[in-house]
Amino acid sequence: MRTVLGVGGGIAAYKAAELARALMERGSEVQVVMTAAAEEFIRPLTFASLTNRKVITSLFASSSADEVLSSSVEHIRVAQDNHVLVVAPATADLVAKFAQGLATDFLTTLYLAFTGKVILAPAMNTAMWDHPATRENIAKLKARGNFVLPPDEGLLACGTTGAGRLPDPVMIADAVITLAHPRKDLDGETVVITAGPTQEAIDPVRFISNRSSGRMGYALAAAAASRGARVVLVSGPVNLPEPFGVEVVKVRSAQQMRDAVISRMKEGTIIIKSAAVADYTVSNPSPQKIKKTAARMSVELDPTVDILAEVGRYKGDRLLIGFAAETQNLVAEGRRKMETKNCDMVVANLVSKEGIGFDSEVNEVTLVMSTGEVIPLPEASKRVVADQIFDHALKLRLALHSRA
Ligand code: CTP
Repeated sequence: MRTVLGVGGGIAAYKAAELARALMERGSEVQVVMTAAAEEFIRPLTFASLTNRKVITSLFASSSADEVLSSSVEHIRVAQDNHVLVVAPATADLVAKFAQGLATDFLTTLYLAFTGKVILAPAMNTAMWDHPATRENIAKLKARGNFVLPPDEGLLACGTTGAGRLPDPVMIADAVITLAHPRKDLDGETVVITAGPTQEAIDPVRFISNRSSGRMGYALAAAAASRGARVVLVSGPVNLPEPFGVEVVKVRSAQQMRDAVISRMKEGTIIIKSAAVADYTVSNPSPQKIKKTAARMSVELDPTVDILAEVGRYKGDRLLIGFAAETQNLVAEGRRKMETKNCDMVVANLVSKEGIGFDSEVNEVTLVMSTGEVIPLPEASKRVVADQIFDHALKLRLALHSRA
C-alpha cells in the first residue's frame, strides 16, 4: 500500500512523525507532504529520515527550468501513485480549504487531484472545532466521502480541556490501513483473539504477572480488522491503544480470560490465543493489603485452566491458532503444544533471543502447522508478522478442507 501523509501546521504536527513510522511498520510506503505552516513546527528532515524519501513542501520547490516543469505536475503524479491520502493534523485552515476546493499549495492542490481514499484527522482548539464554520466544513467533507477521524478529548496545548486532540498515531495508522486496505480476504470471518498478560492478585495491590506487552495480539487484531474481519479482542491489562474497528473485552485474571473466551468462541471462525496466560494463580488472595513482617513469607499457587486446550476440545471446524513462547527446542515444543492442545497452527517464538518477542516492536516466529509443514518467517514488525500469519492461516484452511 502507498500512503501520502499530509502534515498541517498545528502543534500536533510532531505526532505525524510517529504516524509515518506506524504506517511504515504496517507495510505501507509513505510520501510526506508538509504545508509551510507545518514546517514551523517540525522539520522535513525528520520525515525524510523516517521514510527514506524526499519530503514535498512546495508546488514550486525546484530551481532549474526542467525541474520546474516536472515539479509542476508532481501533484498529479503523487495523486496517481498513492492509494490513500491521510492528513494529520488537519488544521481548521486546511479543513476550510479542502471544503472550498482551494488549491493554494501542494497539499491543497493534491487534495483536488486525489481520487483515492481521503482520511482526515482534525486537531485544533475546542472552540475552533466547535465553531459552526468548522462544523459545516466537516459535514461537507464527510458528505463528499472523506473519512473524518474525530479528535480525542483531553488537555489541549492551549491549556483548555475539550475535544481537539489528535488521536493516538497508532490508532490513526490502524484506521488508515483498515479503511484503505486493498485486500478484504477476511470478509465474513469473525476472529477471536486473546492478547497480553494476565494478572493474578496476591492482595488488592499486588499481583503476579509476566512480561507480555500484548503487541503481537493487538497487531493480529488490527491486521484482521483491516482485512475485513469482525474482531473480538480479549485483552489482559496492557498499555496499548484499542485497535481501530475492534471490539475489546478487557479482563484481568486467567479465570476471567477463560470465561470471556469460552463465552465468545462460538462466534469465531478463527481463534487465536496469543495471550501469555498465567500458568498458576494465587490459591487464597488476601482481601486486605498484606502487611510486612520480619518473617519469611510464601505464596501458595494453584494451576490455572489451560484455555487453549479447553477451546481445542470444543473447536469443531474453527481454525485454532496457539502460540508457544520458548527458550529452547522451538519446533519440537511447538509441535507438542499443537498436538496436545488440538491446534491447527502454533506460532512459536524464541523469547530468549535479544530484541525479539516480549515487549518488542519486532518478532521472528516459526509457524508449525498440523499438516506437518514448518515455516520460519523472517524478522519483521509485529504487524507484518500478523499479516503473514493470516496469509498462512487461510492457505492452511484451504489445505485442511481439501483433505476432508
Ligand atoms: N495458554 C492458555 N492457557 C494457559 C496457558 C497457556 O490458553 N493457562 C495458551 C497460550 O495462550 C498459548 C499457548 O497456550 O497460545 C502456549 O502457551 P505457553 O506459555 O507457551 O505454554 P504452556 O502451555 O504454558 O507450557 P509451558 O509453560 O510448559 O511452556
